[in-house]
Amino acid sequence: MAGPVGGAGANPGEVSRSDFPAGFIFGVATSAHQVEGAIHEDGKGDSIWDIFSKIEGNIKDGSNANIAVDQYHRYKEDVELIAKLGFEAYRFSISWSRIFPDGLGHCANEKGIGYYNNLIDYLLKKGIQPYVTLYHWDLPYNLHESEGGWLSEKVVEYFAIYAEVCFTRFGDRVKHWITINEPLQTAINGYSIGIFAPGRRDDPYKEPYVSAHYQILAHAAAVDVYRRKFKALQGGEIGLVVDCEWAEAFSDKEHDKVAANRRLDFQLGWFLDPIFYGDYPAVMRERLRDHLPEFTQRDRDLLRNAVDFIGLNHYTSRLIGHASETTEGPCYEAQEMERIVNWQDGEPIGERAASDWLYIVPWGLRKLLNYIAQKYKHTPIYITENGMDDEEIEAASPNEFLNDQKRVEYFKGYIGSVAQAIRDGVDVRGYFAWSLVDNFEWAQGYTKRFGLVYIDYKNGLTRHPKSSALWFSNFLKNNGDEDDDEVANSP
Ligand code: BGC
Repeated sequence: MAGPVGGAGANPGEVSRSDFPAGFIFGVATSAHQVEGAIHEDGKGDSIWDIFSKIEGNIKDGSNANIAVDQYHRYKEDVELIAKLGFEAYRFSISWSRIFPDGLGHCANEKGIGYYNNLIDYLLKKGIQPYVTLYHWDLPYNLHESEGGWLSEKVVEYFAIYAEVCFTRFGDRVKHWITINEPLQTAINGYSIGIFAPGRRDDPYKEPYVSAHYQILAHAAAVDVYRRKFKALQGGEIGLVVDCEWAEAFSDKEHDKVAANRRLDFQLGWFLDPIFYGDYPAVMRERLRDHLPEFTQRDRDLLRNAVDFIGLNHYTSRLIGHASETTEGPCYEAQEMERIVNWQDGEPIGERAASDWLYIVPWGLRKLLNYIAQKYKHTPIYITENGMDDEEIEAASPNEFLNDQKRVEYFKGYIGSVAQAIRDGVDVRGYFAWSLVDNFEWAQGYTKRFGLVYIDYKNGLTRHPKSSALWFSNFLKNNGDEDDDEVANSP
């Protein structure tokens, strides 16, 4: 069977701004560790990534985010760029160790707070709504080292204290909060495979599930603080960001369909079922037995409906087949599934981007959005990340990256797929492209470029909008009708 060519599985055609309802938000996203730099400035404490990057072999190109793209000093320039391109919102994250350098919640660092106040004020001045993530993978190192980080129950309270300070100090202006970004990646990459900070692979049968459990409870604790103390006064909303690939059954065979469903439960259900149904998915309980922690009645009460919206990070899709053995390491074994790239006739599911995991499959997003709407009670959804990368080529000139037609097609396809899902009746409220700028791509260092805006790392970190940024600008301002070269900027 070849890939879908018609009906629900077809890639969408042309898309324009007018395909989206009034009030639908288009934004761009980044995260603190990937763009800020200034890791020792103004009292910031070390995060687990600051320490992880120092260990040889952890980052592909031996780099770190000590300077990153220096947004800490250039935030005004970046905000101006976002405004010029015509985006309406900026999703960024707060670095926990700027606010509490040791993570323990004793004494908030006023200089760190000052930085985010300036950023938020400047965004609002330029007419851009801040969408703020409290945790995007950069745990204060001391909290990990001295208290056990995500493996300790204590982290739940520390996170709630940190969240409360953020609501108190920024919540008069921030109306969209995200507690945690992609708890799945922290659980698997941080505590099972060990390719992300804190780099643990000590007990892959237990630690991913414990670290996921406390992330879920930390999320619930922060939502509880917000709803009890701030929501009535500040009037904002708060959600969780999960990441999920669409899982398309490899064939019509029952065991492939069941495996595809199981795959979705292990990615999404792991984090959303406790919130919507009070426990982990039955298939996880069945297969992981006592490796999976239990929720107390109090946990369940706190978790019940603990999101105003679901944030979805989505990049790619896979064909899923049943497998009695897997090759992907212990934490995946219980899934008994295989992620397959080619259809049965050998055709790939989509073209590949630079990262080996990233195949371009726009129709997968529409299917995933419909799945989430049906399974999770038609809760409002924001696409909080979507994008693709190019491979860095040391010898290439910036011009070779600026004409990023492949990325333009990626965005057209995926945004079209969102428009289709909205027509299907899914309540999608916004879309954030990943990423505003090329940046520190975690264990890949600077070898991958996800930006709409090119960063010239060799020439003073100058910013140069790529064709995709200009396409977006035209899409947002002119409904895709005419060219707008106001922001064009060749190096
Ligand atoms: C993360 C981003 C990352 C992107 C591309 C997402 O999982 O939230 O921080 O840069 O994927 O890998």
